[in-house]
Amino acid sequence: MTGGAVRVEPARSADLAAIRGLLGAAELPTQHLEDGSARLFVARGAGATPGELLGCAGLERHGAAGLLRSLAVREGARGQGVGRALVERVVAEARAAGAAEVVLLTMGASPFFEALGFEPARREAVDPALLDSWEFRLHECVPAQLLRRQLAAGPDPSI
Ligand SMILES: CC(C)(COP(=O)(O)OP(=O)(O)OC[C@H]1O[C@@H](n2cnc3c(N)ncnc32)[C@H](O)[C@@H]1OP(=O)(O)O)[C@@H](O)C(=O)NCCC(=O)NCCS
Repeated sequence: MTGGAVRVEPARSADLAAIRGLLGAAELPTQHLEDGSARLFVARGAGATPGELLGCAGLERHGAAGLLRSLAVREGARGQGVGRALVERVVAEARAAGAAEVVLLTMGASPFFEALGFEPARREAVDPALLDSWEFRLHECVPAQLLRRQLAAGPDPSI
């Protein structure tokens, strides 16, 4: 599969079960997927039908920050640019919504995000509204690494 064969688009309600399956397989939290706090995106291969997903990602807004959450790529589809396409879509959406930074918590994927321009940061350095988010308050996320990508105003040169 090449990057061109991947389509990233807003999730439909028919995708929710598959999103939960992807997150469960990747041992990622599934809270607050359906209460409207997150905008969800899915990656599909050419010709896929609703529910047939290569990957998913979500964006929540907390203060001036976008929280990138729920990024998962199906095991058999990894290493082919799907994760990158999902992250860049979330970053583009956050920028379009006027966010100053995109922030995430990760247990094991820091090198992947650092390759995409994210940098480690301390929790005190990001928008304080994030500290009240469900993900930051989750017990399992206490040891997670925080990474952020600050968004300059204007068009993103990396897109
Ligand atoms: C992390 C994850 C989303 C990456 O998805 P992917 O589709 O395999 O990533 P891509 O193919 O787009 O990779 C983009 C780049 O990052 C690199 N990369 C991918 N995973 C990596 C990792 N774990 N460590 C270091 N580099 C990594 C790729 O080699 C690629 O580099 P290149 O463009 O120079 O070749 C996927 O491995 C996954 O779903 N993991 C389990 C869930 C998870 O950890 N989610 C993040 C939680 S916040």
